[in-house]
Amino acid sequence: MTATSDAAAGWDAAAEGWNRSAPLIRAWLNDATHAMLDAARIGPGARVLDIAAGAGDQTLDIARRVGPQGKVLATDISPRILALAQANADAAGLRQVETRVADAQQLDLDGAVFDAALCRLGLMFCLAPIDALKAARAALKPGGRFAALVFGAPQGNPCIAIMAATAMRHRALPAASPYAPGTLLSLGEPGRMARLLGAAGFVEVEVRPVSAPFHLPSAAAYIEFVQTSGSPLMQMLAPLPPDAQRAAWDDMTAQLGVFGAPDGWHGPNELLLCSAAAP
Ligand SMILES: C[S@@+](CC[C@H](N)C(=O)[O-])C[C@H]1O[C@@H](n2cnc3c(N)ncnc32)[C@H](O)[C@@H]1O
Repeated sequence: MTATSDAAAGWDAAAEGWNRSAPLIRAWLNDATHAMLDAARIGPGARVLDIAAGAGDQTLDIARRVGPQGKVLATDISPRILALAQANADAAGLRQVETRVADAQQLDLDGAVFDAALCRLGLMFCLAPIDALKAARAALKPGGRFAALVFGAPQGNPCIAIMAATAMRHRALPAASPYAPGTLLSLGEPGRMARLLGAAGFVEVEVRPVSAPFHLPSAAAYIEFVQTSGSPLMQMLAPLPPDAQRAAWDDMTAQLGVFGAPDGWHGPNELLLCSAAAP
């Protein structure tokens, strides 16, 4: 199996869970998503490329903004999750949405035809994010806008840092760099996204942190979300027998209890809103 087919298989396995978690994801990411659409200046009639679209939650927001005269092409590496995106768009009556299975690093689209390209929480999974950014730029008309959300630095994302470190410990693997390529926080290193966007040939580059905390009833509710929808953590624990996996999830739940509050559980989460224009 290649890294690409591993990623596709991992997200195929998490597809139904991610789709079922749509209400939780929408509550978590709604403000950040609208800030991303604003940064890409998405308006009526626009033709938009949605990269690593998943089950299409943000695709629906984009489609509503571009309206029936616009077009959205939602792409993803996982056929199963993308089929859910198409079904969700169809169920919402958004006929301006089309889907195509494609690796973000190798989009193979025909020419520079899009007014905007967006990517919500997908770029950090690319082993070669520079290739994904170059492919997005190549798909844009001159002056077209790019906007993306990626996870920020480990200090702003303690839940992810705790879960990743705990998974490595339960696998008896040595602690890895939080910025290891293709992992959740891989693009969170300060300055990295701005440098990559510049290197991909974008101009008007801006990167700013956006707080997107989780508000859930308990740490257990957060772990349940990650356990069913969070492919990277699911994949890290997959080689362990079921009992050992359960012990790792329990360990994470106990540690994340530190973010409990009188009115529930508030998990800190910091994203980077990255935007730029094609020259
Ligand atoms: C965390 S989900 C985000 C999905 C969606 N954008 C959202 O925010 O709800 C990450 C998505 O990235 C996709 N993905 C991972 N690696 C990819 C790649 N190399 N090319 C395209 N999509 C990829 C996965 O299949 C998955 O759907």
